[in-house]
Amino acid sequence: MNYAIANWKMELTLEGSVKLARKIVREAEKFGTKTILCPSFTSLEEVGKITKGKKTGLGAQDVFWKKEGAFTGEVSAKELKRIGVKYVILGHSERRKLGETDEIIRQKLETALQFNLTPIVCVGETWEERKKGSVKKILQKQISAAFKNLKISDKKIIIAYEPVWAIGTGRPAHPEDSKEASEIIKKELAKCFPGKIIKKQITVIYGGSVNSKIIADFIKDGGMSGALVGGASLNGKEFLKIIKAIAGIRF
Ligand code: PGA
Repeated sequence: MNYAIANWKMELTLEGSVKLARKIVREAEKFGTKTILCPSFTSLEEVGKITKGKKTGLGAQDVFWKKEGAFTGEVSAKELKRIGVKYVILGHSERRKLGETDEIIRQKLETALQFNLTPIVCVGETWEERKKGSVKKILQKQISAAFKNLKISDKKIIIAYEPVWAIGTGRPAHPEDSKEASEIIKKELAKCFPGKIIKKQITVIYGGSVNSKIIADFIKDGGMSGALVGGASLNGKEFLKIIKAIAGIRF
C-alpha cells in the first residue's frame, strides 16, 4: 500500500486543521492511497472526529516513551490511543535538531509498538553529511539504533527517508538519491529482520519538499512507497493532487 502522510507541524490553528481535514477526507477516500493526517496535539481530537470511521488515518507528531507520570509537557501513548490516534511520527529531523537522540527515538518506538501505534520513523542525512560522503554511514546508524533487536511481531512500520537538506527548502532530492537510500535502508533492515517481515510489514516513503509534480517519479524510479509531506500538505488542493499521483492517477 502507498501512503500520503500530511505533517502539519505547528502551522495550523484548530479551526484551520478542521477545515483542511474536512476537505481532504471528503476527497481522499476516492483514491487507493492510504492517507494519514498528523495535526498538532491540540487539534488531534477534533480532527479525529472527522477521520473516525473513514479510511483516512490519524497520526500524532510525537509521543513520550514513558507510560505515565511526572513528565511536564509530555503526551502519553495511552492518551493518544484514547482519542483515536493510530500513527505517530518519530525522530523527525526538526526534533532531532532540538536534541532528540537515536536512543530517545528507540525508546519512543518501543512504546509506540507496545500501544499499537504504527510508527513513522524518520531518517536522513544533513547536507554536510552528504557532502562528506557519509549518507550510508548515517542511515545505517539511524536504522540500526532504531531497529536492532527490536521485536515487532506482526506490527507495521513506516520509515520516512527525509534528507534534512530537502525539508522545507523547496529543493527535493532526486529519485536516484531515494533509490540509493532505500537500498541502504533495506540492507540495514535485513540485519534486524527476516526478509518476509521487511516485505510485508515495513514500508519506506520519501519526504522533503514533496509536491504533486515530482512525487510520481519517486514511486516509479525512486524505490519509495509514498510520501511524508509538510508544506504542500497545508494546501488541500495540492495535497489531493499528491494523493492522486501516489495512487498512480495522472492529472
Ligand atoms: P516539507 O516537509 O514537505 O515541507 O519539506 C517534510 C517534512 O518535514 O516531513
